[in-house]
This record gives sequence, structure tokens and C-alpha cells, in this order.
Amino acid sequence: MPVITTIADLKRMHKRRTPKMFYDYAESGSWTEQTFRENTSDFDQIRLRQRIAVDMTNRTTASQMIGQDVSMPVALAPVGLTGMQCADGEIKAARAAEKFGVPFTLSTMSICSIEDVAARTNKPFWFQVYTLKDDDFMQRLFDRARDAGCSAIVITLDLQIMGQRHKDLKNGLSAPPKFTLASMADLATKWSWGLEMMGTPRRFFGNIVGHAKGVADPSSLASWTAEAFDQTLDWNRVAELMKMWGGPVILKGILDAEDAKKAAELGADAIIVSNHGGRQLDGALSSIRALPAILDAVGDKVEVHLDSGIRSGQDVLKALAMGAKGTYIGRAFVNGLGAMGEKGVKTALEVIHKELDTTMALCGRRDVKELDRDILLIPENFEGRWQ
Ligand code: GLV
Repeated sequence: MPVITTIADLKRMHKRRTPKMFYDYAESGSWTEQTFRENTSDFDQIRLRQRIAVDMTNRTTASQMIGQDVSMPVALAPVGLTGMQCADGEIKAARAAEKFGVPFTLSTMSICSIEDVAARTNKPFWFQVYTLKDDDFMQRLFDRARDAGCSAIVITLDLQIMGQRHKDLKNGLSAPPKFTLASMADLATKWSWGLEMMGTPRRFFGNIVGHAKGVADPSSLASWTAEAFDQTLDWNRVAELMKMWGGPVILKGILDAEDAKKAAELGADAIIVSNHGGRQLDGALSSIRALPAILDAVGDKVEVHLDSGIRSGQDVLKALAMGAKGTYIGRAFVNGLGAMGEKGVKTALEVIHKELDTTMALCGRRDVKELDRDILLIPENFEGRWQ
């Protein structure tokens, strides 16, 4: 058993164990992947202030996200096809999150259905929806989420059309994988993944197949997106969807202060500063760079969360010290899942928690709820002076 000390260790194991098509799906950004890369490299630009001789006992990472208690403010982000990284992946990830005391967000594009995840977990999870044209389907998704006891809905606002990820096209991404010479050659080397996958009935998009009308090819995410997603989306429609659900709402995909103001006006419980992990608009700012302007605009009106680029507890600490009240990990937990199933997600959370806690102590702080910019060394031009 290798000694796992970082998310990068889990990522290497994930790559070895999981078919290339699915590993690449997680590990891609759109087009040139500039935003995907900058999401992480911009975190590296921020340095930390080392403080000494400060009592570091009685530390706590416990906090709240949208009023719900969390053992650390790090939720699991909605990630499509999670159940293809590892058999029953969404159930395993949800169980690991539940045991760790952090929120799990189920993607609409999951393999395990809402009902399946609810039946195999004990605590409420969050459910992510896209903005779809079909009102009946949207209403049914909300009803199903309500019946499953979901405690919040995350509405993704930055994916009415899909950013192109070259690798997905080249790999012929589909769930379950279609058998081509290349995919069979790859699968032959991923036998432990295949054995587990043969042992589960969950190999299709569980929330869509059998629920959405007129989906010509339910195995292809790209074709479903092209058919079902609402390109007429505007803020009135967002308000309509929030009303349809009628419970706590988190609006995801906000990267601009003007959009943040709109989201706050609608009464969202939180917004997520996000560029979809660099998978949508390539060339957009990294989330951590976009965060300060959004906090200035709405930080006192709505809870501000951040995703995209978090691979360590240091990254979490930087986002929180900058002013975010919560963060999300996507690839970091998927790496754990692809490496070792539920145990791998647990390990990913432990790695991040330990990094967060130790870094906080070495910065002379004891409570994640009281972090502030005073512990950060932010380069002068970090936000950039754009014309
Ligand atoms: C779906 O939201 C994706 O980014 O693939």
C-alpha cells in the first residue's frame, strides 16, 4: 500500500486504475486549458504569512455553509459521470462525505440516481441541476430531490452550451463506454475497474434515462446537452426555477460582480464563484482572482463560496482568508474515488483537512471562521488591471 500524502498521489493512482476516457473527462479543461491551468497556478501566487509564538491549541475547522454545520467548509462539488470513475461512485462519495461531516452535491449527470443515493445514505445531500428547457422534467427533478430529502439545490448557470474539451471528443466519451479497438485495449489494462463495474447495475445516467423525454442518445452527455439545455436562459427564468424548488438555493457559475449582484438580488442562499473548473469559457479569469471583486460587490449580501482550482488545504485556507465562506472540491475527491473508492474519498478529505489545520496553525490562527486577509501575501497585481 503506497503512502498517500497529497491529492497528487491519489491522482496518479486514479490514472492507473480508471479507463482513460473517464480519467481524461475529469482531468480536462476546455480548448487550450488556460483557465483550467490558471485555476491552480493563481492559488500558488498567493503566499502565506508565517507567525510564531501564538498559542495554537484548541483549533477548529468546523463552520457552517448555508446555515448547515460542516466539519470543514469544503463541500464535494457536483461532478458528472462520477459513477464511471468507480462503480457506484456517487454513493461511495456521498457516504465518505457524510462520515466526514461535509456536504455532498449530486450532479444531475450522475450515474447513481437521486433515489439510489438517498437510499444508501443517512443525511440530506445537495442536488445540482442545469437549466433545462423541459419544465416538466425540471419540476420532476425538484420533486424527486424533495422526496429524497435534499436540503439544497445548486443551479448551474454557466452551462447552457458545453465548452469543448478536445479529449472527450477524441476518446468518444460515453456512459457506459462504447467498445472500439482503442477503448477495449485500454479497458484490458483496467481490469479491477471492470470487475467492479460488472458487479453493479448502475452504468447509465440514472437521473435521466427513463425520466427525460426525447433524449436520442442517453449515453452521450454532449448530445443530451445540445438537445435539452435552455439557451434562452435569463434572470427571470432563474427566479422561476428558484420558485419552482421553493427551498434553499445555491447559484453556481458566477465570475463577474454584475452577475453576483443579480444573484444576490434574487435572494440566493449562496453563490459559487466558479468557472466550472476551467471546463467552459477558456480564457476566463481563475476563480480565486475573480473572488475579491465579487466579495466587494456582494460579500455583505449573500454567502460567497468558491470552486475551481482547489487541490489542497492551503488552497482552502487561501480562499477562506480571502473572504469565501465555503469551498468545493471536484477533481480532488474524484481522484480519491478513482484511486480507492469510498476509502479514497475519505483519504482526500483527510489530506485536505490536515493541510488546512496545520497551515492555519502555522499562520498563527485557530479558527477557520476567523480567517482574514491579514494572513495572506497577495501580489499587488493579483486582480489584474484589465482595460
Ligand atoms: C458537466 O457539467 C461537465 O463539466 O462535464
